Amino acid sequence: MNSFSPQHSRVLSGMRPTGRLHLGHYHGVIKNWVELQNEYECFFFVADWHALTTHYDDPSLIPESTWEMVIDWLAAGVNSNSATLFVQSRVPEHAELHLLLSMITPLGWLERVPSYKDQQEKLKEKDLATYGFLGYPLLQSADILIYKAGQVPVGEDQVAHVELTREVARRFNHIYGREPDFEAKAEQAKKKMGKKNAKMFDKLRRAYQEQGDLEALEVARALLGSQQNITLGDQERLFGYLEGGGRVILVEPQPLLTKASKMPGLDGQKMSKSYGNTIALRSKPAELENTLKRMPTDPARVRRTDPGDPAKCPVWQFHEVYSDDDVKAWVQQGCRSAGIGCLDCKEPVINGVLEELRPIQQRAAEFEAQPELVRSIINEGCERARDVARATMEEVRHAMSLSGI
Ligand code: TRP
Ligand code: SF4
Repeated sequence: MNSFSPQHSRVLSGMRPTGRLHLGHYHGVIKNWVELQNEYECFFFVADWHALTTHYDDPSLIPESTWEMVIDWLAAGVNSNSATLFVQSRVPEHAELHLLLSMITPLGWLERVPSYKDQQEKLKEKDLATYGFLGYPLLQSADILIYKAGQVPVGEDQVAHVELTREVARRFNHIYGREPDFEAKAEQAKKKMGKKNAKMFDKLRRAYQEQGDLEALEVARALLGSQQNITLGDQERLFGYLEGGGRVILVEPQPLLTKASKMPGLDGQKMSKSYGNTIALRSKPAELENTLKRMPTDPARVRRTDPGDPAKCPVWQFHEVYSDDDVKAWVQQGCRSAGIGCLDCKEPVINGVLEELRPIQQRAAEFEAQPELVRSIINEGCERARDVARATMEEVRHAMSLSGI
């Protein structure tokens, strides 16, 4: 819906530092980031405060996980020249916005987020009946809103958090976007677009407000987005005026749903650390070969002479990711007829994984050998992120009457 302004093209996403990345992260998240960074202005960050909401009793591993995760990102092709990489706790403005948003966020909104109860159920060994954990999705809203991000690449499990973010932004704009002379200022701003555009804006605004014409809304947004000669403040006013609200100070983001990747874990379930079925991006080739040789196959294939069924075998799922049609046909035929052994079958998969990881591991080694380079990438990213965050906070403080003293 927010098809407007440069902010539309800003992408933001974060990842909790949970240790070294594995192929599931690579296929499910990072490859997507690598594509996005070429198309959009991207901000990617390590959500270390978010890790603290569940690991408050033992935070000692978070710094190392943060460090290794950034190296894994860089190794996997996230490029610090295209994207801004930073660490959440190094941009304390996130915390200030979280606090300010907490003033206007009804408790019920947070209690209703599905992950709140789900995670408490799932992580029973932890006491997650904390204020910080309840606020987890609101902290995430602050992460997103502080950059005025238009698009947030996330998995299915995070969509509800982006939805909450949209509601919080709407509420914020509704409460604080109302200046006393809002209408007069908006009318003035409109005139600055020139006669023709102002007339067009009026027509579209009427079509939307009187007939609910969504297409008119889209066209009007595009019109506003393309204005070069009006200030950001006036643009915010006009966006709000268009929709019948106050100024749009915080931008409603869209979730950019990442397709579920086909990459399975070693046992055929989803690859996840909690299942112990992962292949780390930096696992040594010899180790990797061993692991893949030992991975389970169709349980019905006990002897080499027993025919098997790829549909019941996790190795087949790896072929779906790594093999071309010829190899897949060879597997289907050879498995069902017991013409090939499981080790034969695994060979192309082993090669596929090794080949995919080779350049990643090479880059990882280069970054490992240059900690000062990694450090400066993080430092520069944090500074760049902070500049944007500071600018938003000035607007937010002003809107909330906090900049007058
Ligand atoms: N909650 C996200 C997750 O667990 C991580 C995250 C924190 C995030 N802040 C964010 C993702 C902002 C996207 C945008 O994966
Ligand atoms: Fe699985 Fe391949 Fe063995 Fe068939 S031949 S059971 S697909 S590993």
